[in-house]
Formats: sequence, structure tokens, C-alpha cells
Amino acid sequence: MDLVKRSSTDKDRGRLRVTGQRRGATRVSTRHSTLVLEFLEFIEAQPRQSLRSLLDRILSKSRELCHAEAGTLFICERRGPRRQLQSVCVQNDRVPVRRSAFLVPVGPESIAGYVAASGRSLRIDDVYQISRRCPYKFDERNELPGYRTRSMFCFPLLDFEGRVNGVVQIINSLAPGRKRPVPFPAEVDEMIPPIIRMVGQWLERRLMLEKIAARTRKLRKNNQYLQQQRQRIVELQEATEEAFQLSIRLLARAAELHDKETAAHLQRVNEYSYRLARLLNMPDNWCREIHYSAQLHDVGKMSVDSSLLYKTGPLNRREKQEMSRHTVYGHAILSGNPRLQMGAEIAMNHHEKWDGSGYPNGKRGEDIPIAARIVQLVDVYDALRARRPYKRGFSHAQAMRIITRGDERINPEAHFDPRLLEVFQRNHEEFNRTWKEARPSLAARHGLRTRS
Ligand SMILES: [Fe+2]
Repeated sequence: MDLVKRSSTDKDRGRLRVTGQRRGATRVSTRHSTLVLEFLEFIEAQPRQSLRSLLDRILSKSRELCHAEAGTLFICERRGPRRQLQSVCVQNDRVPVRRSAFLVPVGPESIAGYVAASGRSLRIDDVYQISRRCPYKFDERNELPGYRTRSMFCFPLLDFEGRVNGVVQIINSLAPGRKRPVPFPAEVDEMIPPIIRMVGQWLERRLMLEKIAARTRKLRKNNQYLQQQRQRIVELQEATEEAFQLSIRLLARAAELHDKETAAHLQRVNEYSYRLARLLNMPDNWCREIHYSAQLHDVGKMSVDSSLLYKTGPLNRREKQEMSRHTVYGHAILSGNPRLQMGAEIAMNHHEKWDGSGYPNGKRGEDIPIAARIVQLVDVYDALRARRPYKRGFSHAQAMRIITRGDERINPEAHFDPRLLEVFQRNHEEFNRTWKEARPSLAARHGLRTRS
């Protein structure tokens, strides 16, 4: 036996042994080898039980192995100077045990604290006879009511790196035929080393798994919260977008109230423009943008004197000039907002003509933004189809004939982008359907009165 003895007096030597791990070969009885083997197999065979339940059974098995009447299993918590032991299992065959956990600081004052701090086992024959020279002592205040501790065997549990992660304290060895507790036999020193490592490493794995499971639960919870927040952001974005679209419609409608155009006309111009953009294979975002921007083409009419807008007779040169400025006014109204840049572009350019004969800047060909070229074409188509106080509404066939062949006011080759006109002509039925389908006017949808 290679035991490290800390006591020097005869009295202490008989009652107290501080034991280290064995270095040389030691003969362990076959019975105990079998028991240790059973113990280790028992640990490995319990992977599905809860940590607390397994620790309880490990303590029971340790007591069975050493014929002990009672015991406590501690787990190390925290690091550094705040390290402490928390009792996770307390067992006693003689008296009821307290249910609440208790804490023991890691340090030399208490028996379990000393074992945790030193990493060495303690086998004590009588805890009431510990030498005063020993740093640790038994605290009688920890005795359970009606119970008296006598012998004690206390050993650490070591993790993969050899650090103490738990302490097992077993109390009062019971010899067969003896009523009073006896000292733990020296052979327990031989049985414990494989258990110390095996249980300690198993404990480390389980504690790690518990931590991972707790973190996974927390991450799932956080993830769920993030998903809810993302959903909320999407809802808020949708609400903001809805408010933006409503503002645009109301802005276009405000201009329309100032003019003889109708809300239904604005809605149809949006739809025609969107469909023509799709037929031209414009990008999705661009199509969505023209879908709400087209209706803003005449928003500048808000700044034109209404007496001009409602004048029934022909306009003189000065009045025509002022009227043509609705393009510039519209651009000024819309150009301040980044999301209305296409609207501003359309407002400025929707009266430009392919041959450069339009206004306000006389742009020609592809110098005219394509969104404005689209709106210019579909605006003419809708104006031809619409009935006005001063004109009848044309059928689809009549409107198409005027757009493609011209009349006294319209010269298709001079006015329209030939590529757009070709696509429009090739898909003309689609625009006829839009005319028929776009019945629920903006006014009806928003409770506004129309004058058509
Ligand atoms: Fe206009």
C-alpha cells in the first residue's frame, strides 16, 4: 500500500488516513474487482436517464460497493476563488434527508472542500477524532437530526483534464453483524481510482450535453423570437408600402380633381403601362415601379390655373405655354422623393414625341425615358377610348386604327417609339381586356366621387 499519511500521532494514525492514488501493483480481491466492473458497466449502460437520476444511482452504487449507510454527491460549480460544491444527491438509510441542496466552499476548511481543492481522497475512521493539525474539520452542525457520522470516505471525481468536477462522500461503513459503524477498509482505496476517472469523465460529458441542450433550447427560443420579429418587420414594411401606395393614389387623384381626367383613367394607365412593360421584358422591380408611377403623369396640373383646365374654347399661345408647363410642375412636385424618381421622369417627358416635336424640351428618340414613352402611348390609347363631354368614346378597333395609321392629330411614325407601337399592336387584345376589366375605379375603392 502506498498511502500518503498526514497524521503523525498514534491516535491520528489509527483513525485518519489521507490516501493518494496507487503507483505500484496492488492485489485487489476478485469480489471487489467484480463489483467495480459491475459499477462501470452500470454507468455505461444508463445513457438515457436524466443526469439527476443517474447521479442518484451512482451514489447508491458507491455506497453498495463500500457498504456505506449514507452519502452525498457534490458537483463543482464556478471557477477560480468562487468555486463551490453543490450537493445534488443526499442519501441516508437510517434517517430522513433534507431535500434542499446545500453549498460547500472549495477550500481546506471542510472535508469535501478539502478533497475538491486537493484532488485527493480522504479515508477517516472517526470524524470526531480528526487531529487539530489537519486543515479541515468535521462540522457537527451538518449532522442530520438523530444521526451521528462516524467513519467517512471521501473521493473526488476527475474530468478529462484531471480537474475535480465532483466529490463523493460516503458515510459510516457497516460490517456484517455489527450494529455500530466501523472504519472503511483500506481496500476501498484500491477500488476507487478507476471510478474516480470513469465517473468524472462521464459526468463531464453529461454536464456538457446538458449545457448544449440548454443552449440549444435558448437558441431555439431566440430563433423563434427573431422569426417573430422578422415577421413583424415584414408586416410593418407591407403596411408602410400600403400607406405609400395610398398616398400616391391620393396624390394622383388630387391632380385629377383639378382636371377633367377620371380616377378610372389613372388606374387604367397604370395597368396598360405595367402590361406593356412586362411585354417588353423589363425587370420585375421596374414593372412594379411603373405600375404605380404611371398614374402620376399629370400630377403637375395641380399647379396649373383651373380656369385653363376647364376652358371649353381653344387656348391661345400663352395659355398653351402655361398648360405645357404641367410637365415641369409635375417633375418639381415628385423629384424630391427617391421612390418617385420614375414618376418625376414620366411627368416631365410624357408629352415628348419620337421625332422631337413634343414638349417641354423637344427630346427625341431614345433620349426620351422609356417609362415616359410607354405612358405617352397608352395615355393616347385610353384617351381615344374614353367618352368625354366634348367627344364620343371610340371602340378598340377604331382606337387601334388611329394609333397605327394616324388621323388629323396623331402621326404614329412621328409620335411613338416604333418598337413600343409594334409590341402594343401585336398584343392589342390585352389592352382591350384591360379597358374592360379596369372597372372598379380608384374612386370606388377609396370612396371618392368620379366625374366620368
Ligand atoms: Fe399630360
